[in-house]
Amino acid sequence: MKDLKELFYKTIRSISFALDAKDPYTHGHSLRVTLYSLILASKLGLNDTALEEIETAGLLHDIGKISIPQSVLCKKDKLTDEEFEIMKSHTGNGAKMIQNIKKLSAVASWLKSHHERWDGKGYPCGLKGTDIPLFARIIALADTYDAMTSTRPYRKALPHEIAIQEIKRCAGIQFDPELAEIFVANEAEIKAAKDNPEEYYDKLSFLQKYINTAAEILKLNK
Ligand SMILES: [Fe+2]
Repeated sequence: MKDLKELFYKTIRSISFALDAKDPYTHGHSLRVTLYSLILASKLGLNDTALEEIETAGLLHDIGKISIPQSVLCKKDKLTDEEFEIMKSHTGNGAKMIQNIKKLSAVASWLKSHHERWDGKGYPCGLKGTDIPLFARIIALADTYDAMTSTRPYRKALPHEIAIQEIKRCAGIQFDPELAEIFVANEAEIKAAKDNPEEYYDKLSFLQKYINTAAEILKLNK
């Protein structure tokens, strides 16, 4: 069972790395979104199983971008309406890629909804408020913070403080207001994770425990 879980975890991490490698501008994006989502979810008091699921969803949230042509994904100028429609399809495509895997069927629905907005002006379905699954609302917030604080082909990264101001401003408009409040209240931890993602991931990951460490292998062999 442990081997299977290790296989599962390493497979989703490999897919996540492959996706981040496809676009140099979003390098490390999936990992950071996972970290911010885990911090938020842990402050909500969610149990370990839920945290494992949110970690899986964070790592895979943009998997549908594998289906987006590089010319659209890495375009330096503003996307045309037609290109934006193509870009938007990564939500539904991501869900389709994993929805037939029984263990990932809930994760698929969160992938589909991670660009919905609290005010109903998001995509692909225009879901509003709590009609958007909680885990999709968490990822949406983590995703937007990372997008703002990362350099993109068309603009430089915004400082952490400005991104936090923007989250406050968009609470109840783009973001779930309660989640935005928790995010802002824990901004110091979020910033620490942003500045040192690898170290934080080792601390926060629930899935990494499925990897047999050298110490565990020695114990098993006794
Ligand atoms: Fe996305």
